[in-house]
Amino acid sequence: MTLDIARLRAETPGADRILHLNHAGSSLMSAATVAAIEAHLRREAEFGSMESGVAVAAHLDQVRADAAELLGAAADEIAFTGGNSDGWGRAFAALRLKPGDRVLVGRSEWGGNLACLQRAGLAIETVPADAEGRISLDALAGLLDDRVRLVALTWAPANGGLIQPAAAVGRLARAAGVPYFLDAAQAVGQLPVDVAALGCDVLTAPGRKALRGPRGTGLLFVRRDFQDRLEPAFVDTHSAPIGPGGAVPLSDARRFESAEGPAALRLGLGVALRQALDLGLDRIRAAVFANAEALRARLADVPGVRLQDLGVERSGLVAFTLAGQTGARVQAALAAQGINIGFNGRAYTPLDMDARGLGEVLRASVSYLTTEAELDRFVAALRQIDG
Ligand SMILES: Cc1ncc(COP(=O)(O)O)c(C=O)c1O
Repeated sequence: MTLDIARLRAETPGADRILHLNHAGSSLMSAATVAAIEAHLRREAEFGSMESGVAVAAHLDQVRADAAELLGAAADEIAFTGGNSDGWGRAFAALRLKPGDRVLVGRSEWGGNLACLQRAGLAIETVPADAEGRISLDALAGLLDDRVRLVALTWAPANGGLIQPAAAVGRLARAAGVPYFLDAAQAVGQLPVDVAALGCDVLTAPGRKALRGPRGTGLLFVRRDFQDRLEPAFVDTHSAPIGPGGAVPLSDARRFESAEGPAALRLGLGVALRQALDLGLDRIRAAVFANAEALRARLADVPGVRLQDLGVERSGLVAFTLAGQTGARVQAALAAQGINIGFNGRAYTPLDMDARGLGEVLRASVSYLTTEAELDRFVAALRQIDG
């Protein structure tokens, strides 16, 4: 059974207002997600936000359970965060690495994660890529030894359709007994996720991308038997309440959360999560991949366009360059016609951009909501942009 795209679009306020090809930046929320957020904000305004928080506590427990289901995890392995970097940074800070400690990263690693590693003074080694641009498993196996303190991989990068062999990396990291952090910002909501098969100790995701949740939300998975390896950089009354014997961190992943959080946004995230689960991640992936390949086929015929996606299996993020054009100029020309796309400079993925000598790439990223007619309109508009 395929997805009912017409119905899903009708239930998405933005679907017919804008031609949105920036789902990798932030996707479009459904009307039901927006309604859940609005209803809770109204409840807070009318009955008090603390009291409203108590009223929806059980509901938020269910959101946590649904998030766990989405990732193949248990509810006590999930923390709510404010976004991908928020979760990744909290987990990384809690790992308490020391300056000079050795860390292995893939070439597609997210720039924010690299910034954390650099600022901690770590010895960062980039694992070479194979002929397809994926992390080389042979090279990784050769580099892993008992001096390595962390393997960090971005599953699907911000600058192209590459999908890294995340589970194979997990098998190698586990065999070597090295902690494995997986940045799944561009994967969750688009690919089926099973943290057991991935073998990761930490996985992070934002709510706003393929999951179609609101901005300012995110998920942090920390494997149960890894939680005690982490010492949160800071705690508060929620994560480590003070008892008779002093502050005791909670016994589950909530120890990585803050006391204060946006209940309305989390309820909205819950609606989006539930929808993804109900649609089925296999079906979502098939629809997204089909749209992305249809877009790549169209772009291949546009004069001056060069596709910049690496990998074998490719995500919904289609990267390309247009001869003689800057990303800002193309983005603005399309925005003037009601078309959203993104573009990245070096900072998001510096290792890969440098390795390929790229200054920037344009990003047209699809969703299962995307239609063939939208792809045609986008490509026609792109053809009209002159140098
Ligand atoms: C691969 C990857 N990691 C991390 C991030 C940062 O996510 P956030 O803005 O939620 O911190 C992004 C955002 O585009 C991303 O693509």
